[in-house]
Amino acid sequence: MRAFRVHEMGEPGEVLRYETVDPPSPGVAQVLVRVRAAAVNFPDALLCRGEYQSKPPLPFTPGLELCAEVTEVGDGVTGVNVGDRVLGSAELPTGGFADYALMREGAVFPAPASLSDDEAASLFIGYQTGWFALHRRAALQPGETVLVHAAAGGVGSAAIQLAKAAGARVIGVVGGPEKAKVATELGADVVVDRNTDDFVEVTKDLTEGRGADVVFDPVGGDSFKRSTKCIAFEGRIVIIGFASGTIPEPALNHALIKNYSLMGLHWGLYRQRAPETIGQAHTRLAELADQGLVKPLVSERVGPDALADGVQRLADGSTVGRLVYVPAG
Ligand SMILES: NC(=O)c1ccc[n+]([C@@H]2O[C@H](COP(=O)([O-])OP(=O)(O)OC[C@H]3O[C@@H](n4cnc5c(N)ncnc54)[C@H](OP(=O)(O)O)[C@@H]3O)[C@@H](O)[C@H]2O)c1
Repeated sequence: MRAFRVHEMGEPGEVLRYETVDPPSPGVAQVLVRVRAAAVNFPDALLCRGEYQSKPPLPFTPGLELCAEVTEVGDGVTGVNVGDRVLGSAELPTGGFADYALMREGAVFPAPASLSDDEAASLFIGYQTGWFALHRRAALQPGETVLVHAAAGGVGSAAIQLAKAAGARVIGVVGGPEKAKVATELGADVVVDRNTDDFVEVTKDLTEGRGADVVFDPVGGDSFKRSTKCIAFEGRIVIIGFASGTIPEPALNHALIKNYSLMGLHWGLYRQRAPETIGQAHTRLAELADQGLVKPLVSERVGPDALADGVQRLADGSTVGRLVYVPAG
């Protein structure tokens, strides 16, 4: 089979090599799948750079999220059958940027019939992260205002749709007019281009000075720092990631005097500590997809000739919505 592999750490555009390798075989509680589509995530770039929290042994194939068809099941697998169309996360070092990948039974879920392969590939990490952030961590209520950073990106685009589906008002923050258009199409009520406008002022104006009830922050750096200037009384800032490359150091006295909460979300930890919650969230997300309330925005499909460049562009912050890898043939 053909697979992209990383032999040494570096920029994705340089270290992702397309090679011929033997297909992996499923071990205990694993399934072998034929990849139909694999969505690219920021962590794929971090994996290439060796900056992700987990570091698979070299050489490895990235591609954390996919839609696939089960072709073989390992010992002990009971809930998944050959031929099932599934989505979920691949088990590294045999990730989804390949013709075949391995998945662990607990990370395999039915792909909703209402979604195409590209869309289904994108329903897992971003939407699960958005779901846990907005509902489980921030306990979002209908009528509240949510400020979403990197709103046209992978997790941000999911957060817009999930917040709207929950009856919230959404302010999306993006970098540039093309991304602004996308955030509007995704359903954001108000979109702020951070290159030309100040999201603090817009948020205060829109909420009559009260501020945002929930901030969804995958960016960190100044985005986080300035969010503390427009967070509401009893607001919740959910820390999703640091795409800016800067991990902010919050002033806890400020959280105290303004009565707001900082809450971290490491979605992957739920898979270890409370795995049943992942399936529960998937059931709800699949229902929302079937009702047409969420639909991943796939803006680009790339084949083997364009994957490395695509992962690099995502790392550089120039992609919108979801970039999806489709294996050749
Ligand atoms: N906590 C969790 O469990 C969890 C789960 C999944 C992902 N994440 C994290 O969420 C973050 C976003 O991931 P994603 O896959 O959805 O990526 P993405 O949003 O598609 O891409 C990152 C976006 O961040 C913004 N950005 C701002 N400053 C940037 C900079 N200096 N360099 C690059 N981008 C910059 C850009 O949007 P604008 O130009 O529009 O601002 C860019 O498009 C990552 O840090 C990832 O590790 C966390």
